[in-house]
Order: sequence, then C-alpha cells, then structure tokens
Amino acid sequence: MNNAFWREAWRNNRTPWHQREGDSDLHRFVDKFPPPPALVFVPMCGKSYDLIWLAQRGYSVLGVDLAPEALQGLYAEMNHTPVQQQDGPFVRYHAGDITTLEGDMFAVGSEHLEHVNAVFDRAALIALPPEMRQRYVTHLRKTLPVGTVILLISLDYHGGHDEGPPFSVAHSEIERLYHGVASIEQIDHYECSDRVSPAMLEGSRRAFNTVWLIHL
Ligand SMILES: C[S@@+](CC[C@H](N)C(=O)[O-])C[C@H]1O[C@@H](n2cnc3c(N)ncnc32)[C@H](O)[C@@H]1O
Repeated sequence: MNNAFWREAWRNNRTPWHQREGDSDLHRFVDKFPPPPALVFVPMCGKSYDLIWLAQRGYSVLGVDLAPEALQGLYAEMNHTPVQQQDGPFVRYHAGDITTLEGDMFAVGSEHLEHVNAVFDRAALIALPPEMRQRYVTHLRKTLPVGTVILLISLDYHGGHDEGPPFSVAHSEIERLYHGVASIEQIDHYECSDRVSPAMLEGSRRAFNTVWLIHL
C-alpha cells in the first residue's frame, strides 16, 4: 500500500471509498468536537465532502493527501480556485476555511498541527496495512497537541479475506495503538454489511463500523 498505489487509484478515478454526501457518523457525532471555529485535521482526506461540510458549520479545516487529483477535485466541488504555494515538502492550497497540504502524511510535523483541536479519521487508519498503522498512530500521537479530540471510524469484518484496503482492524488493536491516551471509548458500533463490497464479505457475510472517541 505505497504512495504509488494511491496515485494510480486517483489517476484512474478508482475511488470507491468516496461518499458524495459525506459521512453520517460525522454528522451524528460532530458535537463531540470543540465548537466552531475549532480547527479540525483530516488526515488522508481524499476529496472528502466532510471538509466542506465542516467548513459550512464554521469549523476551520486542515486536510492532507498525497494526491493532487484529490485536492483539486475538492476545490472544484466547492467552485473555488485555491491559492497555492509551496510549503516545504508540501503544496499548500487555501480557500475559505479549508487549507490542504498535498504531500505525505508522514511529513506533517507538529508545526503544521499546533493549533489543531480535533481530528476526523474516516478511511485513513483502516486504509493502511498493519505495519503502517502503528507508524501512522505513533506519528499522530507525536505531532498532535495534548487535548486533541479524535473521532475515529473503524471497520471490522469477520472471516473472508483481509486484503484491504479497507482493512479489518480489531478493537484490541485500536486499544493497543491508543494505549495510554487520556481516554478512549466506543461511542457506537453497528453493522454496515450493506455498505461494503461483496468481495470483502466472502465467507463471512457481516461487517461492522465502530465509532471511537479518543482524547489525547
Ligand atoms: C481510502 S481513501 C480515504 C479518503 C477520505 N478519508 C475519505 O473518507 O474519502 C485514503 C486516502 O489516503 C491517501 N493517502 C494514502 N497514503 C497517504 C500518505 N502517506 N499521505 C497522505 N495521504 C495518503 C490516499 O491518496 C487516499 O486519498
């Protein structure tokens, strides 16, 4: 699951994870975030409508994705031409209340995240293979301010193949990755078998989403 894999997916317009209407768990649980104009960081944001939805509610939004097609698609959706500038290893785009960094998530430093209050992780952690998940969470925990609130949507499916993305991530793994934070709780858990590809359910038939609320 290297960067070339994702670039290829975007170049070929193969983005089955994209939700045109945004994420219903974010809509249900946005009140767990500090109130607007808090700054919400969306790692591996793609062209997620969630960034626009958050900005419409008065949040400031910072996204990062390695694919220029994703970020250009996002601003096109908003009918905005963003201001673009080089920022170290990133191309920084800015329009309205939405700033995005085009580049590698692992190059984002605490200098980029020092004002972040909340994180929305949907299809980011679960898009990564096991060895990268540890690296990803370690990086987030090292670079985000203490007190940041994370809303994380995880996915688990039982049996069948586990060749993601998206990957099935056990609750025990999430608890291990976030061990030692100020608090971690499951605030919802529901079946989502009707929303995942039939190939993922082969031999298993059931998939579940869990919504986690984490305070660093
Ligand atoms: C499964 S998609 C999810 C996108 C978005 N979160 C959503 O819900 O629509 C994963 C995204 O992560 C991006 N990505 C993967 N590895 C990355 C990395 N190392 N740095 C930045 N973005 C990355 C990909 O380009 C892709 O857009």
